Amino acid sequence: MEKKFKRTTVTSALPYANGGVHIGHLAGVYVPADIYVRYLRLKGEDVMFIGGSDEHGVPVTQRARKEGITPQQVVDRYHKMIKDSFEEFGISFDVYSRTTSATHHQFASDFFRKLYDDGKLIERTTKQFYDETTGTFKTDRDIVGECPHCHAEANGDQCEKCGRDLDPTELINPRSKESGAQLVLRDTTNWFLPLNEYEGWLKEWILEGHKEWRSNVYGQCKSWLDMELQPRAMTRDLDWGIPVPVEGAEGKVLYVWFDAPIGYISNTKELCESNPERWGTWQQWWQQEDTRLVHFIGKDNIVFHCIIFPVMMKAHGGYIMPDNVPANEFLNLEGDKISTSRNWAVWLHEYLVDFPGKQDVLRYALTASAPETKDNDFTWAEFQARNNNELVAIYGNFVNRALQLTQKYYEGVVPACGELTDYDRETIAEFKDVKQKVENLLDNFRFRDAQKEAMNLARIGNKYLADSEPWKVIKTDPERVKTIINISLQLTANLAIAFEPFLPFSSKKLKGMLKPLDSLSAGNISGVSSGTAALPPTGGDGEGLLLTWDRLGSIDLLPAGHQLAKPELLFEKIEDEAIQAQMDRLARIKKENEAANFKAEPVKPNVSFETFEKLDIRVGLIKDCQKVKKSKKLLQFTIDDGTGTDRTILSGIAAFYEDPSVLVGKRILFVANFEPRQMMGIESQGMILSAVDFDDSLSVVTTTKDVKPGSQVG
Ligand code: MF3
Ligand code: ZN
Repeated sequence: MEKKFKRTTVTSALPYANGGVHIGHLAGVYVPADIYVRYLRLKGEDVMFIGGSDEHGVPVTQRARKEGITPQQVVDRYHKMIKDSFEEFGISFDVYSRTTSATHHQFASDFFRKLYDDGKLIERTTKQFYDETTGTFKTDRDIVGECPHCHAEANGDQCEKCGRDLDPTELINPRSKESGAQLVLRDTTNWFLPLNEYEGWLKEWILEGHKEWRSNVYGQCKSWLDMELQPRAMTRDLDWGIPVPVEGAEGKVLYVWFDAPIGYISNTKELCESNPERWGTWQQWWQQEDTRLVHFIGKDNIVFHCIIFPVMMKAHGGYIMPDNVPANEFLNLEGDKISTSRNWAVWLHEYLVDFPGKQDVLRYALTASAPETKDNDFTWAEFQARNNNELVAIYGNFVNRALQLTQKYYEGVVPACGELTDYDRETIAEFKDVKQKVENLLDNFRFRDAQKEAMNLARIGNKYLADSEPWKVIKTDPERVKTIINISLQLTANLAIAFEPFLPFSSKKLKGMLKPLDSLSAGNISGVSSGTAALPPTGGDGEGLLLTWDRLGSIDLLPAGHQLAKPELLFEKIEDEAIQAQMDRLARIKKENEAANFKAEPVKPNVSFETFEKLDIRVGLIKDCQKVKKSKKLLQFTIDDGTGTDRTILSGIAAFYEDPSVLVGKRILFVANFEPRQMMGIESQGMILSAVDFDDSLSVVTTTKDVKPGSQVG
């Protein structure tokens, strides 16, 4: 970081309080943001980490409607749930507030009013869909109708079936999602931010001034700026939100994307006012040129943080601009897009029930496959492998061996380091510059690679122990073993420091084992703090045992003679059963979604009675049913068709009847005059009727009464 900055304001997107938080949120925004602020704090920099819930907007009202409760009840429930999840995962916000707070309402309202008074907004009358039965305007997402392209039922802003973006006026037969009522177009006046007037400034500031931004962010900005920007409505006809502070604007609220980013500032104000000695004034964090502003977001938020919010601040005047916006791409789950409405997600509160105490495992796995440059996929198999093959087998294993050997040979007292061999020196040289490497990567928001560097220390340690074989050397040269163990312990202490931004719980635990007297000052773990978390960490246990960031890479972290605590395992293996249980849960959800989405196929063109009559459908009694050898699909039925001669019919439904003998004795329907066909060298004399279920599984069709075989169906 350049020296001109005295402090850093770090924001992380305010999650909508209409559901819990899932791994996609964590991987995309909150874990990287948390790593970053922990890192800055460890370096002793002045940083404020701002979070909060985004409690306005249409999604909240939709959720309320679905559950039959008020929007306020919705946000109260989810704000608490989200806040708790973040705390549990050690996301160490300095403030986590909400956009329904009085401070925020006032702040956002004043912000709007200043733009209004300064003539920075333009008034425009447009036609919007209106529901006469409820007397309300509808926003895009509250409108449904027929897609003009594929004719599926579509939402006002997008058709899920064919994926096209829509304007609600394009829909055929637009209706209210809420009441089903036909909608009419009606004039309404709203206030717009003329983004187009800022185009030149934006191009200069971003395209010229911030070529260092991640290419996905820069690229998205460029494609927005290559199109002509349009004025954008900053108010909405809606009854949930912050009232527009203008006379005659009753029934209108601030657009959620206007008020939410202002939430970063109002939350800062709240924190500063709660502890002015520590935090000073909010203006320091948002309006001083020596402050650096960084927004952590997901890629769907780029335009709001790089274009709209900056224009709002520019129009208002007095604000600093973001120095960087390290937006992530998306994390998928087992190959499918994460979706709150489809429940296709791993929810943090559920994860902790299934994997208690394993916050760091998830943090590690999510950082290891963070979608930094492209969309990435979370799989449970990879999660297990990251835990078992990396955390347990590399990090945990090395630390445990170093500590156990110290117990075994020296009763937990750090042995003195003797003369170094060339191999010792090589090993030390290998990890000496870890600090510089990790810092360089973190300064460039490359969290995956930075975490890899930390893990690399443990790899070095494992190799060192394996090559030096202290368990053998102890018999021949006990003096030499002291040096080996000393170096291994120094590496262990380095690991505790290096992993601290990434795996705060494990580092705290490890530091507790290394310097038992000082375990209380191992840093802020629990997440939301009253402000002490941002103070530079203090070491200090009277022994000069400073496991602080600035000493990362040193080999004299633990002095000879220092007594360590009893070692405990840092990580434990995750068994296949636990992973299978998660896969089963996802399979269940997938099934439920398919069932919920089932729509009957459109009916085929009519046929005459004569046509129908040509089919000779009959009842048959299954006398025998076997799998056809060498065929995965076919079942061979032997049917009593009432003629006295058995009939053989083949049907491709073996996959759905694990044990075909359960079908014996059942009455089924078959087409008796279906042209005979040869399959696998057997002649099939007819076709058995089966129903195709929503998930493409099949069930034969039976009768409810013991109808005589050979009876006709019609
Ligand atoms: N609630 C938005 C989302 O989840 C993010 C809001 S970020 C803020 O996509 F800047 F508006 F706060
Ligand atoms: Zn469509």
